[in-house]
Amino acid sequence: MSVKLPMYLDHAATTPCDPRVVEAMLPYFTETFGNPGSRNHCFGWAAEEAVDQARRQVASLIGADRKEVIFTSGSTESNNLAIKGGARMYELAPAGSGKPRGHIITGNIEHKAVLDPCKRLEKEGFEVTYLEPGPDGIFTAEMVKGAMRDDTILVTIMWANNEIGTINEIPEIGKLCHERKVLFHTDATQWVGKMPTNVIEDNVDLLSLSGHKIYGPKGVGALYVRRRKPRVRLIALQEGGGQERGFRSGTLNVTGIVGLGKACELCAQEMDADRERLGKLRDKLENAITSRLDTVQVNGHPERRLAHMTNISFGFVEGESLMMACKDIAMSSGSACTSASLEPSYVLKGLGIGDDLAHSSLRLSLGRWTTEEEIDFAIETIVGAVEKLRMLSPLYDMHKEGIDITKIEWAAH
Ligand SMILES: Cc1ncc(COP(=O)(O)O)c(C=O)c1O
Repeated sequence: MSVKLPMYLDHAATTPCDPRVVEAMLPYFTETFGNPGSRNHCFGWAAEEAVDQARRQVASLIGADRKEVIFTSGSTESNNLAIKGGARMYELAPAGSGKPRGHIITGNIEHKAVLDPCKRLEKEGFEVTYLEPGPDGIFTAEMVKGAMRDDTILVTIMWANNEIGTINEIPEIGKLCHERKVLFHTDATQWVGKMPTNVIEDNVDLLSLSGHKIYGPKGVGALYVRRRKPRVRLIALQEGGGQERGFRSGTLNVTGIVGLGKACELCAQEMDADRERLGKLRDKLENAITSRLDTVQVNGHPERRLAHMTNISFGFVEGESLMMACKDIAMSSGSACTSASLEPSYVLKGLGIGDDLAHSSLRLSLGRWTTEEEIDFAIETIVGAVEKLRMLSPLYDMHKEGIDITKIEWAAH
Protein backbone atom coordinates (compact mmCIF):
# COMPACT_ATOMS: atom_id res chain seq x y z
CA MET A 1 0.00 0.00 0.00
CA SER A 2 1.61 3.25 -1.01
CA VAL A 3 0.03 6.53 -0.07
CA LYS A 4 1.49 9.98 -0.02
CA LEU A 5 2.01 11.29 3.49
CA PRO A 6 0.96 13.41 5.26
CA MET A 7 -2.59 12.63 4.24
CA TYR A 8 -5.38 15.19 4.35
CA LEU A 9 -8.70 14.15 5.89
CA ASP A 10 -9.82 17.57 7.12
CA HIS A 11 -11.85 18.91 4.20
CA ALA A 12 -14.49 20.36 6.53
CA ALA A 13 -11.79 22.78 7.75
CA THR A 14 -10.69 23.77 4.27
CA THR A 15 -10.19 22.23 0.83
CA PRO A 16 -7.34 22.51 -1.65
CA CYS A 17 -8.10 24.75 -4.59
CA ASP A 18 -9.11 22.75 -7.65
CA PRO A 19 -6.41 23.27 -10.36
CA ARG A 20 -9.19 24.18 -12.79
CA VAL A 21 -10.16 26.98 -10.40
CA VAL A 22 -6.57 28.27 -10.23
CA GLU A 23 -6.36 28.21 -14.02
CA ALA A 24 -9.54 30.24 -14.33
CA MET A 25 -8.21 32.82 -11.85
CA LEU A 26 -4.74 33.36 -13.31
CA PRO A 27 -5.51 35.85 -16.13
CA TYR A 28 -7.24 38.14 -13.65
CA PHE A 29 -4.04 38.82 -11.71
CA THR A 30 -1.97 40.20 -14.56
CA GLU A 31 -3.94 40.55 -17.80
CA THR A 32 -7.53 41.32 -17.00
CA PHE A 33 -6.67 43.21 -13.84
CA GLY A 34 -9.10 46.10 -14.11
CA ASN A 35 -11.37 47.38 -11.37
CA PRO A 36 -14.95 46.36 -12.12
CA GLY A 37 -15.95 49.77 -10.78
CA SER A 38 -14.08 51.51 -13.66
CA ARG A 39 -17.04 52.08 -15.91
CA ASN A 40 -15.23 54.17 -18.51
CA HIS A 41 -12.70 51.81 -20.08
CA CYS A 42 -12.37 48.27 -21.37
CA PHE A 43 -10.19 47.05 -18.47
CA GLY A 44 -13.04 47.80 -16.10
CA TRP A 45 -15.64 46.32 -18.41
CA ALA A 46 -13.70 43.07 -18.76
CA ALA A 47 -13.38 42.75 -14.99
CA GLU A 48 -17.05 43.53 -14.55
CA GLU A 49 -17.94 40.86 -17.08
CA ALA A 50 -15.85 38.30 -15.20
CA VAL A 51 -17.55 39.21 -11.91
CA ASP A 52 -20.92 38.98 -13.59
CA GLN A 53 -20.18 35.52 -14.91
CA ALA A 54 -19.11 34.42 -11.42
CA ARG A 55 -22.33 35.86 -10.01
CA ARG A 56 -24.29 33.69 -12.44
CA GLN A 57 -22.25 30.61 -11.51
CA VAL A 58 -22.84 31.13 -7.79
CA ALA A 59 -26.52 31.93 -8.31
CA SER A 60 -27.01 28.88 -10.49
CA LEU A 61 -25.60 26.54 -7.81
CA ILE A 62 -28.17 27.72 -5.25
CA GLY A 63 -31.18 28.43 -7.49
CA ALA A 64 -30.95 32.21 -7.09
CA ASP A 65 -30.97 35.17 -9.45
CA ARG A 66 -27.54 36.69 -10.08
CA LYS A 67 -28.67 40.03 -8.65
CA GLU A 68 -29.23 38.30 -5.31
CA VAL A 69 -25.55 37.35 -4.85
CA ILE A 70 -23.41 39.68 -2.72
CA PHE A 71 -19.70 38.88 -2.73
CA THR A 72 -17.95 38.93 0.64
CA SER A 73 -14.67 37.75 2.16
CA GLY A 74 -16.19 34.42 3.27
CA SER A 75 -18.83 32.95 5.49
CA THR A 76 -17.77 34.79 8.63
CA GLU A 77 -18.50 38.08 6.91
CA SER A 78 -21.65 36.76 5.22
CA ASN A 79 -23.00 35.60 8.58
CA ASN A 80 -22.17 38.91 10.25
CA LEU A 81 -23.83 40.88 7.47
CA ALA A 82 -26.94 38.69 7.46
CA ILE A 83 -27.39 38.52 11.23
CA LYS A 84 -26.32 41.99 12.39
CA GLY A 85 -27.45 43.70 9.19
CA GLY A 86 -30.80 41.87 9.27
CA ALA A 87 -31.52 42.40 12.97
CA ARG A 88 -30.63 46.11 12.83
CA MET A 89 -32.83 46.62 9.76
CA TYR A 90 -35.87 44.77 11.12
CA GLU A 91 -35.54 45.90 14.77
CA LEU A 92 -38.79 46.67 16.59
CA ALA A 93 -37.39 49.66 18.47
CA PRO A 94 -34.26 51.72 17.90
CA ALA A 95 -31.13 51.41 20.02
CA GLY A 96 -31.19 53.67 23.05
CA SER A 97 -34.99 53.78 23.20
CA GLY A 98 -34.95 51.53 26.25
CA LYS A 99 -37.46 49.26 24.54
CA PRO A 100 -36.76 45.63 23.50
CA ARG A 101 -35.31 45.65 19.97
CA GLY A 102 -36.51 42.20 18.91
CA HIS A 103 -36.08 38.47 19.43
CA ILE A 104 -33.72 36.16 17.51
CA ILE A 105 -33.62 32.35 17.42
CA THR A 106 -30.47 30.34 16.77
CA GLY A 107 -28.88 27.07 17.91
CA ASN A 108 -26.26 26.53 20.61
CA ILE A 109 -24.11 24.33 18.32
CA GLU A 110 -23.86 26.87 15.50
CA HIS A 111 -20.44 28.01 14.30
CA LYS A 112 -18.83 30.87 16.28
CA ALA A 113 -19.34 33.04 13.20
CA VAL A 114 -23.06 32.89 14.03
CA LEU A 115 -22.91 32.72 17.82
CA ASP A 116 -20.63 35.73 18.23
CA PRO A 117 -22.73 38.11 16.07
CA CYS A 118 -25.75 36.95 18.11
CA LYS A 119 -23.90 37.72 21.34
CA ARG A 120 -23.02 41.16 19.97
CA LEU A 121 -26.71 41.78 19.25
CA GLU A 122 -27.61 40.75 22.81
CA LYS A 123 -25.29 43.48 24.07
CA GLU A 124 -27.12 45.90 21.78
CA GLY A 125 -30.50 45.12 23.34
CA PHE A 126 -31.80 42.22 21.21
CA GLU A 127 -32.90 39.02 22.91
CA VAL A 128 -31.57 35.68 21.65
CA THR A 129 -32.88 32.16 22.24
CA TYR A 130 -30.24 29.45 21.79
CA LEU A 131 -32.03 26.22 20.92
CA GLU A 132 -30.57 22.99 22.26
CA PRO A 133 -30.62 19.98 19.92
CA GLY A 134 -31.35 16.43 21.01
CA PRO A 135 -28.53 13.85 21.14
CA ASP A 136 -28.71 13.49 17.33
CA GLY A 137 -27.70 17.14 16.91
CA ILE A 138 -30.61 18.15 14.69
CA PHE A 139 -32.68 21.32 14.84
CA THR A 140 -36.25 20.74 13.73
CA ALA A 141 -39.00 23.13 12.64
CA GLU A 142 -40.94 22.03 15.76
CA MET A 143 -38.13 23.32 17.98
CA VAL A 144 -38.08 26.65 16.18
CA LYS A 145 -41.87 26.87 16.34
CA GLY A 146 -41.75 26.31 20.10
CA ALA A 147 -39.35 29.22 20.52
CA MET A 148 -41.18 31.67 18.20
CA ARG A 149 -42.65 34.75 19.84
CA ASP A 150 -44.66 37.71 18.64
CA ASP A 151 -41.49 39.79 18.71
CA THR A 152 -39.27 37.29 16.83
CA ILE A 153 -37.59 39.10 13.94
CA LEU A 154 -34.86 36.69 12.80
CA VAL A 155 -34.11 32.98 12.79
CA THR A 156 -30.60 31.76 11.94
CA ILE A 157 -29.99 28.01 11.78
CA MET A 158 -27.07 26.37 9.96
CA TRP A 159 -27.87 23.98 7.12
CA ALA A 160 -25.30 21.32 8.05
CA ASN A 161 -23.12 21.23 11.13
CA ASN A 162 -19.37 21.63 10.61
CA GLU A 163 -18.32 19.14 13.30
CA ILE A 164 -20.83 16.32 12.96
CA GLY A 165 -22.31 16.95 9.50
CA THR A 166 -25.92 16.68 10.67
CA ILE A 167 -28.52 18.28 8.42
CA ASN A 168 -31.18 20.54 9.91
CA GLU A 169 -34.78 20.92 8.72
CA ILE A 170 -34.06 23.98 6.62
CA PRO A 171 -36.98 23.97 4.12
CA GLU A 172 -39.43 23.35 6.98
CA ILE A 173 -37.92 26.04 9.20
CA GLY A 174 -37.95 28.43 6.23
CA LYS A 175 -41.62 27.68 5.57
CA LEU A 176 -42.47 28.40 9.19
CA CYS A 177 -40.54 31.68 9.09
CA HIS A 178 -42.32 32.76 5.92
CA GLU A 179 -45.72 31.99 7.46
CA ARG A 180 -44.76 34.14 10.47
CA LYS A 181 -43.10 36.82 8.33
CA VAL A 182 -39.80 36.31 10.14
CA LEU A 183 -36.48 36.74 8.34
CA PHE A 184 -34.64 33.42 7.85
CA HIS A 185 -30.88 33.05 7.47
CA THR A 186 -28.93 29.83 7.09
CA ASP A 187 -25.19 29.36 7.37
CA ALA A 188 -24.79 26.89 4.50
CA THR A 189 -20.97 26.87 4.50
CA GLN A 190 -20.72 23.08 4.84
CA TRP A 191 -23.80 22.29 2.75
CA VAL A 192 -23.54 24.28 -0.45
CA GLY A 193 -21.58 22.54 -3.19
CA LYS A 194 -22.11 19.17 -1.52
CA MET A 195 -25.90 18.94 -1.72
CA PRO A 196 -28.48 20.28 -4.20
CA THR A 197 -29.74 23.67 -3.06
CA ASN A 198 -32.63 25.83 -4.17
CA VAL A 199 -33.17 28.92 -2.07
CA ILE A 200 -36.68 29.43 -3.46
CA GLU A 201 -37.98 25.91 -2.88
CA ASP A 202 -36.11 25.73 0.42
CA ASN A 203 -37.65 29.00 1.67
CA VAL A 204 -34.37 30.70 2.51
CA ASP A 205 -34.06 34.51 2.71
CA LEU A 206 -30.35 34.80 3.42
CA LEU A 207 -27.66 32.16 2.84
CA SER A 208 -23.92 32.22 3.57
CA LEU A 209 -21.35 30.29 1.57
CA SER A 210 -17.57 30.24 1.39
CA GLY A 211 -15.08 29.54 -1.41
CA HIS A 212 -12.48 27.57 0.52
CA LYS A 213 -14.89 24.85 1.59
CA ILE A 214 -15.76 23.99 -2.01
CA TYR A 215 -12.33 23.75 -3.70
CA GLY A 216 -12.22 27.50 -4.33
CA PRO A 217 -9.85 30.13 -2.91
CA LYS A 218 -9.77 31.36 0.67
CA GLY A 219 -10.97 34.81 1.66
CA VAL A 220 -13.93 34.94 -0.70
CA GLY A 221 -17.56 33.97 -0.21
CA ALA A 222 -21.05 35.18 -0.84
CA LEU A 223 -24.29 36.09 0.84
CA TYR A 224 -27.53 35.33 -0.96
CA VAL A 225 -30.02 38.12 -0.27
CA ARG A 226 -33.55 37.41 -1.48
CA ARG A 227 -35.05 40.11 -3.72
CA ARG A 228 -38.63 38.91 -4.05
CA LYS A 229 -41.24 37.59 -1.66
CA PRO A 230 -39.94 39.10 0.53
CA ARG A 231 -37.45 41.69 -0.71
CA VAL A 232 -34.84 41.55 2.05
CA ARG A 233 -33.07 44.68 3.20
CA LEU A 234 -30.00 44.89 5.41
CA ILE A 235 -28.04 47.59 7.18
CA ALA A 236 -24.53 47.43 5.71
CA LEU A 237 -21.63 46.73 8.07
CA GLN A 238 -19.10 48.66 6.03
CA GLU A 239 -19.70 51.77 4.02
CA GLY A 240 -17.79 53.35 1.17
CA GLY A 241 -18.04 53.04 -2.59
CA GLY A 242 -21.49 51.43 -2.52
CA GLN A 243 -20.45 48.25 -4.35
CA GLU A 244 -22.65 45.15 -4.17
CA ARG A 245 -25.89 47.16 -4.15
CA GLY A 246 -24.62 49.08 -1.14
CA PHE A 247 -24.60 45.96 1.03
CA ARG A 248 -20.83 45.60 0.92
CA SER A 249 -18.62 48.50 -0.08
CA GLY A 250 -15.06 47.86 -1.21
CA THR A 251 -13.30 47.09 -4.49
CA LEU A 252 -14.25 43.60 -5.53
CA ASN A 253 -11.77 40.74 -5.13
CA VAL A 254 -11.98 39.88 -8.82
CA THR A 255 -9.55 36.94 -8.85
CA GLY A 256 -11.17 35.41 -5.78
CA ILE A 257 -14.65 35.96 -7.17
CA VAL A 258 -13.70 34.34 -10.50
CA GLY A 259 -12.32 31.37 -8.52
CA LEU A 260 -15.46 31.13 -6.41
CA GLY A 261 -17.59 31.16 -9.54
CA LYS A 262 -15.55 28.41 -11.18
CA ALA A 263 -15.62 26.36 -7.96
CA CYS A 264 -19.43 26.64 -7.90
CA GLU A 265 -19.67 25.58 -11.55
CA LEU A 266 -17.52 22.51 -10.87
CA CYS A 267 -19.54 21.59 -7.78
CA ALA A 268 -22.74 21.80 -9.79
CA GLN A 269 -21.28 19.35 -12.30
CA GLU A 270 -19.52 16.99 -9.92
CA MET A 271 -21.21 17.03 -6.53
CA ASP A 272 -23.54 14.09 -7.13
CA ALA A 273 -20.70 11.81 -8.23
CA ASP A 274 -18.40 13.11 -5.47
CA ARG A 275 -21.08 12.56 -2.87
CA GLU A 276 -21.72 9.00 -3.94
CA ARG A 277 -18.06 8.04 -4.07
CA LEU A 278 -17.13 9.76 -0.82
CA GLY A 279 -20.19 8.35 0.96
CA LYS A 280 -18.97 4.84 0.17
CA LEU A 281 -15.46 5.62 1.38
CA ARG A 282 -16.77 7.29 4.54
CA ASP A 283 -18.94 4.24 5.27
CA LYS A 284 -16.01 1.92 4.72
CA LEU A 285 -13.91 3.96 7.16
CA GLU A 286 -16.65 4.18 9.75
CA ASN A 287 -17.70 0.52 9.49
CA ALA A 288 -14.14 -0.72 9.81
CA ILE A 289 -13.47 1.41 12.88
CA THR A 290 -16.74 0.58 14.64
CA SER A 291 -16.52 -3.15 13.89
CA ARG A 292 -12.87 -3.60 14.82
CA LEU A 293 -12.91 -1.52 18.00
CA ASP A 294 -15.28 -1.67 20.96
CA THR A 295 -16.36 1.36 22.99
CA VAL A 296 -16.52 3.75 20.04
CA GLN A 297 -19.49 5.87 19.01
CA VAL A 298 -20.38 7.81 15.90
CA ASN A 299 -21.67 11.24 16.88
CA GLY A 300 -24.71 12.95 15.41
CA HIS A 301 -27.63 11.53 13.48
CA PRO A 302 -26.68 8.26 11.72
CA GLU A 303 -28.48 9.12 8.46
CA ARG A 304 -29.36 12.82 8.32
CA ARG A 305 -25.82 13.98 7.73
CA LEU A 306 -23.32 14.91 5.03
CA ALA A 307 -21.85 11.94 3.15
CA HIS A 308 -18.18 12.91 3.24
CA MET A 309 -17.58 13.22 6.97
CA THR A 310 -17.80 11.37 10.24
CA ASN A 311 -17.21 12.21 13.88
CA ILE A 312 -16.20 9.34 16.13
CA SER A 313 -15.52 9.21 19.88
CA PHE A 314 -13.12 6.59 21.24
CA GLY A 315 -13.55 5.50 24.86
CA PHE A 316 -10.45 4.83 26.96
CA VAL A 317 -7.97 6.79 24.90
CA GLU A 318 -6.64 10.24 25.51
CA GLY A 319 -7.42 12.59 22.63
CA GLU A 320 -4.03 14.28 22.32
CA SER A 321 -2.20 10.94 22.43
CA LEU A 322 -4.47 9.63 19.69
CA MET A 323 -3.78 12.66 17.50
CA MET A 324 -0.02 12.25 18.11
CA ALA A 325 -0.16 8.57 17.24
CA CYS A 326 -1.91 9.42 13.95
CA LYS A 327 0.18 12.45 13.04
CA ASP A 328 0.54 11.34 9.41
CA ILE A 329 -3.16 12.05 9.00
CA ALA A 330 -4.47 15.61 9.12
CA MET A 331 -7.82 15.54 10.90
CA SER A 332 -9.66 17.49 13.60
CA SER A 333 -10.00 16.51 17.23
CA GLY A 334 -12.87 17.18 19.61
CA SER A 335 -10.77 19.69 21.46
CA ALA A 336 -10.41 23.36 20.68
CA CYS A 337 -7.31 25.27 21.69
CA THR A 338 -8.09 28.28 23.80
CA SER A 339 -5.36 30.54 25.09
CA ALA A 340 -4.94 28.67 28.35
CA SER A 341 -6.15 25.12 27.78
CA LEU A 342 -7.73 22.52 25.56
CA GLU A 343 -11.49 22.88 25.76
CA PRO A 344 -13.80 20.04 24.78
CA SER A 345 -15.84 20.86 21.67
CA TYR A 346 -18.99 22.79 22.60
CA VAL A 347 -20.77 21.10 19.71
CA LEU A 348 -20.14 17.62 21.10
CA LYS A 349 -20.97 18.83 24.61
CA GLY A 350 -24.18 20.27 23.19
CA LEU A 351 -25.20 16.74 22.19
CA GLY A 352 -24.76 15.62 25.80
CA ILE A 353 -21.36 14.00 25.24
CA GLY A 354 -19.10 14.13 28.33
CA ASP A 355 -15.78 16.02 28.40
CA ASP A 356 -13.61 12.88 28.20
CA LEU A 357 -15.36 11.43 25.16
CA ALA A 358 -15.49 14.84 23.47
CA HIS A 359 -11.71 15.17 23.93
CA SER A 360 -11.14 11.72 22.43
CA SER A 361 -13.17 12.40 19.28
CA LEU A 362 -11.96 12.67 15.72
CA ARG A 363 -13.62 14.47 12.83
CA LEU A 364 -12.58 12.89 9.54
CA SER A 365 -13.73 14.67 6.40
CA LEU A 366 -13.01 13.37 2.91
CA GLY A 367 -12.64 15.34 -0.29
CA ARG A 368 -12.57 15.29 -4.08
CA TRP A 369 -9.15 13.61 -4.26
CA THR A 370 -9.38 11.21 -1.32
CA THR A 371 -8.55 7.68 -2.52
CA GLU A 372 -9.52 4.23 -1.30
CA GLU A 373 -5.85 3.54 -0.49
CA GLU A 374 -5.82 6.55 1.80
CA ILE A 375 -8.93 5.31 3.59
CA ASP A 376 -7.35 1.86 4.03
CA PHE A 377 -4.26 3.53 5.48
CA ALA A 378 -6.40 5.68 7.81
CA ILE A 379 -8.29 2.62 9.05
CA GLU A 380 -5.09 0.71 9.90
CA THR A 381 -3.47 3.76 11.49
CA ILE A 382 -6.42 4.76 13.67
CA VAL A 383 -7.37 1.21 14.73
CA GLY A 384 -3.72 0.41 15.45
CA ALA A 385 -3.24 3.60 17.48
CA VAL A 386 -6.36 3.05 19.58
CA GLU A 387 -5.42 -0.58 20.29
CA LYS A 388 -1.90 0.44 21.31
CA LEU A 389 -3.08 3.24 23.59
CA ARG A 390 -5.63 0.99 25.22
CA MET A 391 -2.96 -1.60 25.97
CA LEU A 392 -1.43 1.01 28.25
CA SER A 393 -4.73 1.93 29.92
CA PRO A 394 -5.53 0.37 33.31
CA LEU A 395 -9.02 1.84 33.02
CA TYR A 396 -9.60 -0.07 29.80
CA ASP A 397 -8.43 -3.28 31.55
CA MET A 398 -10.92 -2.67 34.33
CA HIS A 399 -13.63 -1.98 31.77
CA LYS A 400 -12.80 -5.30 30.05
CA GLU A 401 -13.12 -7.06 33.40
CA GLY A 402 -16.64 -5.72 33.64
CA ILE A 403 -16.02 -2.98 36.21
CA ASP A 404 -18.21 0.10 35.73
CA ILE A 405 -15.64 2.90 35.76
CA THR A 406 -18.25 5.56 36.43
CA LYS A 407 -19.16 3.92 39.77
CA ILE A 408 -15.63 3.78 41.14
CA GLU A 409 -15.00 5.89 44.21
CA TRP A 410 -11.44 7.09 43.93
CA ALA A 411 -9.52 7.56 47.18
CA ALA A 412 -8.38 11.11 47.85
CA HIS A 413 -4.89 11.54 49.26
C1 LIG B 1 -20.41 26.32 9.43
C2 LIG B 1 -19.35 27.35 9.21
N1 LIG B 1 -19.68 28.64 9.25
C3 LIG B 1 -18.77 29.59 9.04
C4 LIG B 1 -17.45 29.30 8.80
C5 LIG B 1 -16.46 30.43 8.56
O1 LIG B 1 -16.21 30.51 7.20
P1 LIG B 1 -15.02 31.41 6.58
O2 LIG B 1 -13.77 30.67 6.89
O3 LIG B 1 -15.31 31.46 5.13
O4 LIG B 1 -15.09 32.74 7.21
C6 LIG B 1 -17.05 27.97 8.76
C7 LIG B 1 -15.64 27.61 8.55
O5 LIG B 1 -15.02 26.95 9.34
C8 LIG B 1 -18.03 26.95 8.96
O6 LIG B 1 -17.71 25.66 8.92
